[in-house]
Parts: sequence; structure tokens; C-alpha cells
Amino acid sequence: MSERRPVAPNDLKAFWMPYTANRQFKSAPRMLVAAEGMHYTTADGRQILDGTAGLWCCNAGHKRPKIVKAIQQQAEELDYAPAFQMGHPKAFELANRLTELAPAPFEHAFFTNSGSEAVETALKIALAYHRAKGEGQRFRLVGRERGYHGVNFGGISVGGIVPNRRMFGTLLTGVDHLRHTHLPEQNAFTRGQPEHGAELADELERIAQLHGPETIAAVIVEPMAGSTGVLLPPKGYLQRLREICDRHGILLIFDEVITGFGRLGAPFAADYFDVMPDMIVCAKGLTNGVIPMGAVLATAAIHDAFMTGPEHMIELFHGYTYSGNPIASAAGLATLETYADEGLLTRGAEIGSYWEDALHGLRGLPHVVDIRNMGLIGAVELAPIAGAPTQRAFSAFLKAYEKGILIRTTGDIIAMSPPLIIDKDQIDQLVGTLAEVLQEID
Ligand SMILES: Cc1ncc(COP(=O)(O)O)c(C=O)c1O
Repeated sequence: MSERRPVAPNDLKAFWMPYTANRQFKSAPRMLVAAEGMHYTTADGRQILDGTAGLWCCNAGHKRPKIVKAIQQQAEELDYAPAFQMGHPKAFELANRLTELAPAPFEHAFFTNSGSEAVETALKIALAYHRAKGEGQRFRLVGRERGYHGVNFGGISVGGIVPNRRMFGTLLTGVDHLRHTHLPEQNAFTRGQPEHGAELADELERIAQLHGPETIAAVIVEPMAGSTGVLLPPKGYLQRLREICDRHGILLIFDEVITGFGRLGAPFAADYFDVMPDMIVCAKGLTNGVIPMGAVLATAAIHDAFMTGPEHMIELFHGYTYSGNPIASAAGLATLETYADEGLLTRGAEIGSYWEDALHGLRGLPHVVDIRNMGLIGAVELAPIAGAPTQRAFSAFLKAYEKGILIRTTGDIIAMSPPLIIDKDQIDQLVGTLAEVLQEID
């Protein structure tokens, strides 16, 4: 046997952390050891108010009893069942609950283990759907600048965040991008949806004419672009995208990995904006972030296009070992129940105006160049330090953590998306602490 290397259990070197400044973290670790309700506990025993619902995923807050119990029971009862050619009741039950919760056109759910996988799944379904209908020439995919669709090859190809793409070669071919919708000169400090920019959707018509509309399979957008720093769709923008897709037989995919499960004050962004895509990609809040799980919601028209040929044949050559995993399914069911019990999927609409007023109270503080909000999501954009982009927001993040709040930063944008159980005092604490931070950083 080849040599082995002893490593102390608390050594930080081995774990190559995702989307993290590894050297900075390991020089001054921010270690979380417990969580309950709206708070994390740090290794040194401090309480941190969760201003980000973990990573936009713990919508019901932490350590929710129904979810904890469901996972424990499921692990005892049925730990794993093969996902291919076999089934177990909870995956079917979750698909039923999920499609019941979704707008009526969505009758089918395909389970994955993450948002990234759900994106890949939706893109593949789009291509295969057209082929099944005899339109195999529709091979092009359209995304949008500044879009985030996870980290796998399809997702980074249609995505538009430059550092996520530039290190990774040629990506998928046949992909084009719409312009992003950030128009700070016209829309800065807008409350809710910005007035200006609906015409940016017409880019899709230009792209369609450039390549031939009959070659385009699908357009994928986040209805509200979260990871890039909370860019809200201009009024009328999503409606126009829908119209152009309809005109040319192009599928519209909403990536609702962040907006799904109540973030905007409605179950899905499709409800909030009253625009129906052909597929919805979701994850995160599906299990309250507790167990990895994602899903693609599809209409009957899409699903049924595959249900042809001999009945013993697999209709879609796609799936994951853990698609609809029993423990994830149990967590999903308990999560949806918790949301329903506490009315959380519409809570953002109730407390949203308090949140909006609190956030916009930061206007005029040092470095603040824009504030954006909707439902229980908000962003504060800072002017970058000349020659050192991202440094100012990162300092804000570190100082905020020191002062007992968890925020997130992308570039020089601070994003917040607290659990949907947040109360008014906690909103005051979150925004009040951020105000102190903004006054203290360089
Ligand atoms: C809109 C969107 N799509 C996809 C993803 C990827 O999800 P995951 O990190 O679960 O793969 C994310 C994650 O933040 C997201 O915000």
C-alpha cells in the first residue's frame, strides 16, 4: 500500500472551499457550529443574525422541527431506493405537492440534487423536446449577461457572469446572450420593479433574426437576477420576452432557484410577475436548504412530447443516482408543510414594505450608489474603491460578521435575503448594523 499522511481533524488545509477566498478564510476562519430560527452560532459562541437565509435557501429559518423530524424518520424507514426503474412513495408525493403549489400549467417535476443540475436538466429537456417534436434544428440556447445558472457547463455557457466563464475553455457552442437589465443611470434607488428597460427584451428578436428563429430551442433567465447582485426585471420586460418566445416557438425557462418558494412574496416569480414560462427550475428553498435537492417543473405539453414509442423504453435518457432521494423527498414534504402552516410563501408581501423602507433608509450613507428591493430581497450597491474592485464590499462583509450579522457580497454589491420568518425588530437590527458598517469602512 502506498504511504498515508496523518492529518489532525481540525486542520483546515485539506478542504478546498467552494467560491471562497481560501487563503483569507483559513487565516481567520468564520466557523458556524449551530443554527436555530433566525440565528447562527459561531465556534466562539456568538449569535449571528442570518441576513441571507444561508445561501438564499433556508427560507423557513433554521432547525425547523417538522423538517428535522421528517429527515430522522425517513433515515430509519427507507434510507435509499434506486432512482432508475424503481420508485418510492415520497418522491411521488413531493412531485404532487410541488406541482400543486406551482402555477397550474406545471404538471410534472423532474428531481435533481442542486440548482446547477436542475439547470442542466432543463436545457437538455428543451433540446430533446424539440427533437421529439421533429424540430431537431432548434439547437441554440439563449441566456443573459450577468445571469447565474449554476456552475456546470450548460449553466456557465448560458450564464453571463464573466469570472464564472473565462477560466473554462470554449463552453457550449450555439449559445447567445441578451443584454443585462442593469440601468443605474435611469433606475437607481427604485423601489420594486424599475420603470426603464422593457425594450431590452427586444434583443431576443434581434438574436432570433440573426440566427434564424427556427434554430433557437430556449431562452433561460432568472426572473430576478440574484447572484449577480439583485437585478430586478424592468416593468413589462418579462412579458415581452414571453411574447417573442411565443411568436417563434421558443421555450422560455425561468431559473427560480432563488425566487422560488416565497422570496418575492408569492410562491414563484411566475406568480409574482404573472408571466408563465414553459419550465421552472428550482432548488434551495425546496428543502429549506437542509438536504440537497432541485427540480425542473414542466408543462404537460413538454412532458407528453416524450411519452411516445414502445412502453418498455426509457423516454428521457437523463437522471441522477439521487433524483428524488427518499430523505430529500421527506425533507421537501416537511418544508412545504412548514411553509403552508406558517403562511411563509406570501409573507414577503406582508412585511415587504417595512423591509423596503428600512433598506431605503440607507440612502445617503457613505459609498451607497444604489438600493434595490422586492419581496424579502434587497441589495445595496457600493461605489468600488478605485483600482480595487470588490474590496469595499468584502470589508463590509467582514465587519458585518464581526458585528453579528450575516450578509452576502458580489462584486461591490451587498445582497440580503433573510429567512421569511424575520420580524420587524430583526429587520431593524440587520439594517441598523449595516448602517454602522457603512459608516465605519473605508
Ligand atoms: C438562479 C440560480 N440558478 C442556479 C443556481 C445553482 O444552484 P446550486 O448552487 O444549488 O447548484 C443558483 C445558486 O445560487 C442560482 O441562484
